[in-house]
Amino acid sequence: MIRHILIFSTFLVFSVFCQENPSAACTKALTDCENDLECQNRLAPLMAACSTGTCQPQCRSAVLNVYQNKLGRILLRSDASCIPGRDELRTCNFLPSESTVHCSLGKLACEADLQCNSKFGVFMSECESDAARGACSDKCRQLLKQTTETSVGNVFSNCTCTTRDDQLCLNLKDNLLGVCLKNTFSSSGSATLSPSDNSITDGPAFSDPSSSSTNTTYHFPPNCLIDGPDIYDPSQAAKVPWFDVNLDLPPRQRFQQMAKAYEKEIKDVFDILSYFLTIIPGVNAWEIIGNVTANALDKGMIMNPYKDEVLGIAEVIDVPIGNLVFLNIFYEMSRFCTSIVAQTEDNKDLYHARNLDFGQLFVWDIDAQSWALTDALKKLSVNINFYKNGKLLFKGSTLAGHVGVLTAMKPQKFSLSMNAKVQPDVFNVAKWYMGYYANTDLQFVMYFERWLFENCDTFECAREKIASVNILSGAYFILGGVNPGEGSVIVRNTTAIQFERKLFDGDNDWFLLQTNYDPDKDPLFIDNRRDPGNACMKKMTRKNISRKGIYTVLSSKPTLNKTTVHTVIMSVTKGYFETFIQNCPNPCWAF
Ligand SMILES: *[C@@H]1O[C@H](CO)[C@@H](O)[C@H](O)[C@H]1NC(C)=O
Ligand SMILES: *[C@@H]1O[C@H](CO)[C@@H](O)[C@H](O)[C@H]1NC(C)=O
Ligand SMILES: *[C@@H]1O[C@H](CO)[C@@H](O)[C@H](O)[C@H]1NC(C)=O
Ligand SMILES: *[C@@H]1O[C@H](CO)[C@@H](O)[C@H](O)[C@H]1NC(C)=O
Ligand SMILES: *[C@@H]1O[C@H](CO)[C@@H](O)[C@H](O)[C@H]1NC(C)=O
Ligand SMILES: *[C@@H]1O[C@H](CO)[C@@H](O)[C@H](O)[C@H]1NC(C)=O
Repeated sequence: MIRHILIFSTFLVFSVFCQENPSAACTKALTDCENDLECQNRLAPLMAACSTGTCQPQCRSAVLNVYQNKLGRILLRSDASCIPGRDELRTCNFLPSESTVHCSLGKLACEADLQCNSKFGVFMSECESDAARGACSDKCRQLLKQTTETSVGNVFSNCTCTTRDDQLCLNLKDNLLGVCLKNTFSSSGSATLSPSDNSITDGPAFSDPSSSSTNTTYHFPPNCLIDGPDIYDPSQAAKVPWFDVNLDLPPRQRFQQMAKAYEKEIKDVFDILSYFLTIIPGVNAWEIIGNVTANALDKGMIMNPYKDEVLGIAEVIDVPIGNLVFLNIFYEMSRFCTSIVAQTEDNKDLYHARNLDFGQLFVWDIDAQSWALTDALKKLSVNINFYKNGKLLFKGSTLAGHVGVLTAMKPQKFSLSMNAKVQPDVFNVAKWYMGYYANTDLQFVMYFERWLFENCDTFECAREKIASVNILSGAYFILGGVNPGEGSVIVRNTTAIQFERKLFDGDNDWFLLQTNYDPDKDPLFIDNRRDPGNACMKKMTRKNISRKGIYTVLSSKPTLNKTTVHTVIMSVTKGYFETFIQNCPNPCWAF
């Protein structure tokens, strides 16, 4: 979550403070990139990461990712005057049109150029292994010379690396190019890298979703606990309190009792976010965001009853309304990961479960604090019984201070959880802030989810509404029902269904497991049998579907990890609704 808050807020702060005169070419390239989902998704991290003036690795990865997109390449090759982080890009040699360029970026540029790539390809295949040993034959020197004589290959004669954690670049610069350019022997400094490792993006941070299916990202082997000792302890679910929200009350009063009980915990989350957002010295980003959001609220950009409900909360706990609204909006874009629906063998029961996960902090290397936020959010986990006309209408779980729901169930009717996409539609939310969507029917997903439970009684009704709503940010809806086969993962962009996968579609699957993979890869990735969660479900077997079994799958690493806040287990047919606070004992994935 923080990741998206940071991306977005940096964007916001910059758009408020840094408006100079961008060139027309840059502005056009930026617009083109923003209008392309993939380019936009690559650009958002750059906006956030290239703002510290320190050439940090996250900025580098972001630049390389943008450059690998055609529209992104055009943008970076422009004078970059419309990019908020342009000064940093220049300082760190991340602008491909400048005289000195980062070596990894140079390599990408070369690979994208027919002439350069053909020469460089020959050099690499003939000379790489020798160069790794510090040797360069005359022939190889000649081959490199032919490369640097091409217009694009010229960058290799004078490219640089950044000072922080830049082994792949240094390897290229010193161990490959250096040896053949200078005719001197390099010391075997960065021996940790195999010379054949020509990848240039390091770490999973913003690599393509497709590369997350290769297993370079796992630091520990997956650990499915299905055959292990019993870890399901239903009494632990009692630790997450239940509150009643009476929808017959005036909106202002509905959430006040709960908010009052969580005043301190909500303020703790504010403190942590405010600390994170101290990005630019002397600029109180948290306060600016609060002010900007309060302004949006004044303009009526959040519809009732949600607006009045949030105002009611701000009345009883002493926090700035803008920041409270900000939280309500930005959980929207967070990484709510891993949902499962599974049908029992007799086709009578449906189980639906989810882990709520608040993404890792990628921009600033302070994982420990990112976990501090996860811990703070664990303390906000609550269950709610929503009442209407004196009767229980549905059950849901959320984080105190938020008036939408994340996971909910209407007993004997349907159940729903929502996973955000890996990359939210940040620019869409930015546009919302700027008032583009005033007086439209655009919905926030978490409010919409609650609306569904107030207005639908069947799986089919919910499915139809999910298909037709206009939402601010794309999402995955995981929907379960009471009748055999009622279970779907619905992939939505802001306007339409992109893809739907139902239980028993195609390969007779008795369960669906959805995390946060990218929309254009959906058919492939929902099917991704290599995913450790899928493997663990299969190990449980359909015969053994139970609260205990599903809880065990969701408590197995890496599905369970340092950023997992809680696990909710529901069965719409049996009426179960249990929330468990999770902890991931070491060794445990950071995300
Ligand atoms: C090589 O790099 C230096 C700075 O690193 C720069 O001043 C110089 O202009 C570059 N030379 C060429 C030929 O690009
Ligand atoms: C992935 O990891 C497994 C087990 O560690 C290994 O056998 C396999 O070769 C790896 N696959 C790739 C593509 O690296
Ligand atoms: C936010 O708004 C308050 C009240 O209008 C004002 O006093 C404060 O200076 C604003 N803060 C920033 C950083 O703009
Ligand atoms: C961390 O946990 C979340 C929530 O279960 C999951 O979606 C995500 O894939 C996990 N991370 C890894 C590396 O498996
Ligand atoms: C959403 O997906 C539908 C179906 O794939 C597509 O036609 C539409 O253009 C997409 N909308 C946006 C805003 O990307
Ligand atoms: C399924 O459950 C039964 C009874 O609890 C147990 O004996 C069996 O080992 C389980 N099967 C698997 C594959 O876990």
